[in-house]
Amino acid sequence: MALLFRSRVWKSGVFGGGVARSMSTAWWRHVEPAPKDPILGVTEAFLADSSPNKVNVGVGAYRDDNGKPVVLECVREAERRIAGNLNMEYLPMGGSIKMVEETLKLAYGENSDLIKDRRIAAVQALSGTGACRLFADFQKRFSPDSQVYIPVPTWANHHNIWRDANVPQRTFHYYHPDSRGLDFASMIDDIKNAPNGSFFLLHACAHNPTGVDPSEEQWKEISYQFKVKGHYALFDMAYQGFASGDPERDAKSIRIFLEDGHLIGCAQSYAKNMGLYGQRVGCLSVVCEDEKQAVAVKSQLQQLARPMYSNPPVHGALIVSIILGDPDLKNLWLKEVKGMADRIIGMRTALRENLEKLGSPLSWEHITKQIGMFCYSGMTPEQVDRLTNEFHIYLTRNGRISMAGVTTGNVGYLANAIHEVTKSG
Ligand code: LMR
Repeated sequence: MALLFRSRVWKSGVFGGGVARSMSTAWWRHVEPAPKDPILGVTEAFLADSSPNKVNVGVGAYRDDNGKPVVLECVREAERRIAGNLNMEYLPMGGSIKMVEETLKLAYGENSDLIKDRRIAAVQALSGTGACRLFADFQKRFSPDSQVYIPVPTWANHHNIWRDANVPQRTFHYYHPDSRGLDFASMIDDIKNAPNGSFFLLHACAHNPTGVDPSEEQWKEISYQFKVKGHYALFDMAYQGFASGDPERDAKSIRIFLEDGHLIGCAQSYAKNMGLYGQRVGCLSVVCEDEKQAVAVKSQLQQLARPMYSNPPVHGALIVSIILGDPDLKNLWLKEVKGMADRIIGMRTALRENLEKLGSPLSWEHITKQIGMFCYSGMTPEQVDRLTNEFHIYLTRNGRISMAGVTTGNVGYLANAIHEVTKSG
């Protein structure tokens, strides 16, 4: 391959011959444009729309009640402390040790024995996506014949991540379109019917896109069935704090699995709960049998990271370390997360009330029953297209509404448009 490449360049460069020249320009002629990303493509379309009425409830990114992006006060303070004091040295391959330490406490608990016993292999990752991808690559390398069970539906990018890691995908039932809630019975059946020792991807809280989470009792049953079958659980926890407003409560699913002695994996992200979207800061952790194993696993995770990006970026990790390492700033953060979650919960009530006031013949109870950043509205792709084309309202075609983009200013307009496109069924 290298030889072929050299000879093509050499031929066109030295002789400039017709055949050789045309060959040298043909490298990428077979490349077709990639399909638009189902989530990030919505933002592109929104930005290209010049309507003054346009509303973006596509991407899951928090907005204040004026529709503006938010930088948390705790983040501003951390930045003030960083200013001028930061050198630009590389982080270790595994990222910021302090950030990882603090991040593990959030997922596993302040007084976790697993942390004390150093049984968790953990590295900084490029937000939740990077953490999932690192895990998928790790899975492929060390369990090469395994597959992964993914809920239906799930965040669209999960499919891309395991596809590009060459891990075959299976699905399991999760959402029930009629009840707009959890299809618990089918989910348990799928868990039971999967071959023993299968890998499962679970959303720790605030399931994306449905906003439907198992209850505590249901998590206990899921954990029990995983135990019986010897399955592996990787938790994607992109919304810790966003579901209930309390990061401890949102970690309940994980804690239940830990109480049952599962060796879980966990992908964490600070995109949403600290508003550090573009900083790409997160963490992948893998619970091991003992410290020796954790050291080995961490070294392998680092080795996977090295040829991709060598070491993760420093700025976001520093912000997180400063906030979580200072009790006052941490308290401020907890208040601010709760503030964001509460605003979203308030918008759920407002959207539902507006639809009911308009006399919608449909039930909108699920808007307030679902939890986290998203409402899985039940609208069809055609209804979504009408919302976009007639009302300049942008959302993903699966009917997911990012409640974080709903404000007191646009909730009436949104409700009216939803009513218009759904009233005839
Ligand atoms: C979303 O689901 O909208 C977010 O997680 C953003 C993303 O990267 O897709």
